[in-house]
Amino acid sequence: MRHFLDIHTTTPDDLRAIIDTAKSVKKAREGQPKAALDAEQPLADRMVALIFEKPSTRTRVSFDVGVRQMGGQTMVLSGADMQLGHGETIADTARVLSRYVDMIMIRTFEESTLHEMAEYASVPVINGLTNRTHPCQIMADIQTFEEHRGPIAGKKVVWCGDGNNVCASFIHAAGQFGFDLTFAGPPPLDPERGFIEEARAKGATIEIVRDAQEAVKNADLVVTDTWLSMHDSQSARERRHNMLRPYRVDRKLMGHANKDAIFMHCLPAHRGEEVSNAVMDGPQSVIFDEAENRLHAQKAIMRWCVEG
Ligand code: CP
Ligand code: NVA
Repeated sequence: MRHFLDIHTTTPDDLRAIIDTAKSVKKAREGQPKAALDAEQPLADRMVALIFEKPSTRTRVSFDVGVRQMGGQTMVLSGADMQLGHGETIADTARVLSRYVDMIMIRTFEESTLHEMAEYASVPVINGLTNRTHPCQIMADIQTFEEHRGPIAGKKVVWCGDGNNVCASFIHAAGQFGFDLTFAGPPPLDPERGFIEEARAKGATIEIVRDAQEAVKNADLVVTDTWLSMHDSQSARERRHNMLRPYRVDRKLMGHANKDAIFMHCLPAHRGEEVSNAVMDGPQSVIFDEAENRLHAQKAIMRWCVEG
């Protein structure tokens, strides 16, 4: 049994195997109706609990569909409706759920909730986003980049905006997959120093550049995300917007990247804020392939978990 908790704590070989599986499970479905069962059913007779303590569209639907395509069944649970939201401990919840279900995916606030769930569960636990990381998203992003532009190793990825949970998992991935990452954003919203040092220690070049146009020079991939994450207080909205406006991804900024650079956003996007409509809907945008690949990448992650 294996948990999928983070990119920096999963070995590069395992990460590569998951990406390869993601590409092959996607290929195996080419031309098939969306709801069709896969030829192989690694989740046959298995029940997967999908716990959400925060809203979700992509994570919820892609995990639900993915489990069903692999022959399993799902139970989508809202944290607020569970005793978990009313004082029952995470450890007790983990031990109880392990008596009923074969895998747990959880989207939560504190990273410690995820780790406690994994410590006490006797079934695989998958990180569906915490305040600190979003590894499933970045596995889909790596798959998407490689489908469009080939191996990501040695490429230059530029993150524009808030050094948030999605940015953190990109930094982890830089260390594990061997690409360079430049962060362009204001100092108060820098990514965690420890994550940067860890990726550097693994050989990745991680740079911080305050000027967005300077940062995107030679970029193969430009990425951004919302300026206010689900765990951020609405009261910080104006202050954050004022700091982040110089890092909006628009056509002018994309013009400073490599000609064949692609654009990604994990979605949901706030069009006109962190990114313009012209970039979202423009020829360099691969956002909907990226969203689709959540399905394939997570199927590969779940397969890796149960095969362990
Ligand atoms: N990108 C992502 O995780 O989207 P959801 O919040 O809709 O799941
Ligand atoms: N950074 C965003 C990602 C949403 C998928 C958030 O945490 O709200």
